Amino acid sequence: MALAEIRYTQNQIHDRVHDLAAELCTNLEGQRPLLVSVLKGSVIFLADLVRHMGQIGMDVDVDFMSISAYGAESEPSGVVRIVKDLEQPLDGRHVIVVEDIVDTGLSVSYLLRALTARNPRTLRVCALIDKAVRRITDLEVDYAGFICEEFLIGYGLDFQGRYRNLPCLIAVKDVAAVAIEPGALERLFEKGHGCNE
Ligand code: PRP
Repeated sequence: MALAEIRYTQNQIHDRVHDLAAELCTNLEGQRPLLVSVLKGSVIFLADLVRHMGQIGMDVDVDFMSISAYGAESEPSGVVRIVKDLEQPLDGRHVIVVEDIVDTGLSVSYLLRALTARNPRTLRVCALIDKAVRRITDLEVDYAGFICEEFLIGYGLDFQGRYRNLPCLIAVKDVAAVAIEPGALERLFEKGHGCNE
């Protein structure tokens, strides 16, 4: 079995992020939304998203949150601790929570409850990857880049902290093998080779 294969190329990601930006700009025309990036995975997506929005002509604010889940990874509790909070109030703002991936939905569901209490005018979720089949909450992603079930790395998504800076999204096919040798994929995608094929 191949260890991994390219799932979304750099060009496909570029085009999809542009489409999402255009959709956001249309829906929020005349507004100046606040995009809330949930660290760390979403920063690369956020950076591209806001640049596309800027090119389309929309001014935005950005802010950052860092959260950490309580409980074991195998048994998520759905309770999240805010490690780094926002620096600006949400009252009356159009707020978009920007995520790299929504999986079980527990993290974002918790965040939405916490942020709703701060009286935003609207609160929506924009995620690059929507792993909808894994959802155990009733959360729906308002703006989803790709719907995908696979274990993806690259473009912000990591494997034990690595590979976030790959320019494309790669599906790890043999997770067990990569877990034994986390550096195994480095050779395959050295210098982003193949990321645009
Ligand atoms: C990822 C992602 C979400 C969460 C989604 O973060 O950015 O915050 O997991 O999972 P859920 O829907 O099952 O709650 P991760 O913990 O990998 O942190 P990172 O962004 O710093 O890599």
